[in-house]
Amino acid sequence: MSSAEPTFGREDIDLGELVNEVVADAQFEASAAGKQLDLSFLPGLRAHGNFDLLRLAIGNILRNAIRFAPAASTTEISTQSTLGESVVAVRDHGPGVPEFDLERIFEAFYRVAPARDSDSGGVGLGLAIAARIMALHGGGTKARNAIGGGLIVELRFPFANASADDQMDAALA
Ligand SMILES: Nc1ncnc2c1ncn2[C@@H]1O[C@H](COP(=O)(O)OP(=O)(O)O)[C@@H](O)[C@H]1O
Ligand SMILES: [Mg+2]
Repeated sequence: MSSAEPTFGREDIDLGELVNEVVADAQFEASAAGKQLDLSFLPGLRAHGNFDLLRLAIGNILRNAIRFAPAASTTEISTQSTLGESVVAVRDHGPGVPEFDLERIFEAFYRVAPARDSDSGGVGLGLAIAARIMALHGGGTKARNAIGGGLIVELRFPFANASADDQMDAALA
């Protein structure tokens, strides 16, 4: 076994296109469960990376959100831009996660409560995979409980868009 970093193709990605595909993939599952998805994205927001891996990472997060979302609730998927970072955020209206578990849910095989999670068919790898994929893109993952209930999971990418140089100039100005 090699401990070398995996290598994979990277391209310039339109984050709106990426989240659109993830939502399209998950739409059937959500509709079948009577749950809504609401997508809003910033046109032109870009990231550099592997489309298929990032689709897997965001898909893992969105499928969790759909699973925990109450019937008829709306799960929101959005892209946002902050200085030097692009963010994909998924927010559901489910039970959230106890504060002391917010970091551990990204560990492999970690599940918050066997009773609560037993019917999911998962083994606790989805978020660990997403976190690893984001780390390989120089980014990261973060979960927090939303005010008013539900979980927000954010995937953060190092540069907000193709004009990273402009952003750097702005940061240094
Ligand atoms: N949107 C969410 N709302 C509440 N809990 C969540 C959510 N997403 C993940 N979790 C918790 O984090 C744990 C780890 O998630 P994950 O790695 O995807 O594993 P799995 O889906 O196989 O249980 C889940 O078992 C669940 O307890
Ligand atoms: Mg999962």
